[in-house]
Amino acid sequence: MKIAIVGSGYVGLVTGACLAESGNNVVCIDHNDEKIAGLRSGIVPFHEPLLDAVVLRESRLGNLKFTTNLGEGVHLADIIFLALGTPTGIDGYPDIDSLLQCVDDLSITLQHDCLVVVKSTVPPGTCEAIQTRFDARPAHPSGRCAITVASNPEFLAEGSAVTDFRMPARIVLGASNEIDARILKDLYMPFDPDGTRLIEMDLRSAEFSKYACNAMLAARISMINELANIAERMDADIGSACQVLKSDPRIGPRYLEPGAGYGGSCLPKDLRALIRMASDKGEPASMLHSIEQVNRRQVTLIYHAIEKYFWGCFQGRCVAVWGLAFKAGTDDIREAPSLTLIQALLEAGAQVRAYDPIAEPAVKTSLVHSELVLAGSAEQACVNADVLVVMTEWEEFMTPDFKWLASTLRSPAIFDTRDLYRGKDLNAMGLRHYRPGRIF
Ligand code: UGA
Repeated sequence: MKIAIVGSGYVGLVTGACLAESGNNVVCIDHNDEKIAGLRSGIVPFHEPLLDAVVLRESRLGNLKFTTNLGEGVHLADIIFLALGTPTGIDGYPDIDSLLQCVDDLSITLQHDCLVVVKSTVPPGTCEAIQTRFDARPAHPSGRCAITVASNPEFLAEGSAVTDFRMPARIVLGASNEIDARILKDLYMPFDPDGTRLIEMDLRSAEFSKYACNAMLAARISMINELANIAERMDADIGSACQVLKSDPRIGPRYLEPGAGYGGSCLPKDLRALIRMASDKGEPASMLHSIEQVNRRQVTLIYHAIEKYFWGCFQGRCVAVWGLAFKAGTDDIREAPSLTLIQALLEAGAQVRAYDPIAEPAVKTSLVHSELVLAGSAEQACVNADVLVVMTEWEEFMTPDFKWLASTLRSPAIFDTRDLYRGKDLNAMGLRHYRPGRIF
């Protein structure tokens, strides 16, 4: 099939590369000249494991092309995916302006029958509104072509996006008619070898299911964080309780790691949007508010634990921070708890020496402060530091030289917010060990 993808960000690019890999002819479109020029030379503008190799290979094979020209990119495409960002707008509502602008541009450009599929996360009702916009376009002199709109939300997680696309847990197809549903089913056939992963529904339910998933994921994280905080007060071990929770098939083993709270470009944004949409419809959404509240508190608990360790005074203190990305496997620092913590430490008068294997360039431009040093290695971050805070679960932080840390840190303590060193007797090695459920 001939496919066009409008928006070559993280979602669009992964979708385009993987659909090219499965035998389609794909053109990725973006208005950013620099990005498209880079992609044409095989440069992926962000870190995502496996993606560079797929982009390079499929480009060489001629299955994947890039352009800044919308008309050229969508020419004779059977399916046009819209994968533009929908950031939080000023009113808390998702900002779908760039999506609607693209629909208007397509209304003028398209002269052939095609299916437009919305990949972006959008409020329920958006696909219907887009369909209405297409239906209202003036007829072209060569006659009216048929454009229909479908919804196909994405469930990729950063750091494992290519694998998630190749082996999806589910593929959600929202269609308004059988023909569109059939086209999408055929497209996704290679990704559903056992025929169990496609879930078909109407447009609004598909759009809503994306918000529902992210709200449920956020709920799990806030719940496990709240349980960790309660366990601490009760002198119980959250790690042991987690083992019990994970062994219950009704609860399941994944997504139950306590820590600094969820960050990233999706969960916080989508939760805010759902709260706003619910409130517009007169729903109090009190649980969603609580999920957010627990999440915001989590990083402040870590800050207060460090503050307490220093007897309330940060003057002359230096904190080493390992990990800036909102999670391992990505260079994304959007809404990363590490940034909130670092900001608070700097404001309180501490020095910060931070290190991340790949996210540093992004931090360099977003967080500039005379007392913030971006170190070239994990070890360098600890030189002249009093304590160490581990914020991201990067592989290279898993087995540090604890003896070296104990002799290097001036007030040896590790605030292990990801519980990476659970089960290790760090106290015996001369390091105070603070972990989720043992932060105060
Ligand atoms: C999330 C969802 O997992 C994807 O299914 C979804 O497609 C994506 O948002 C999206 O809407 O585009 P992502 O933001 O890449 O994916 O990251 P997650 O792996 O879900 O992690 C989100 C945050 O929760 C991170 O800060 C992570 O460290 C934190 N987390 C995750 C925990 O604190 N504990 C856990 O047990 C799991």
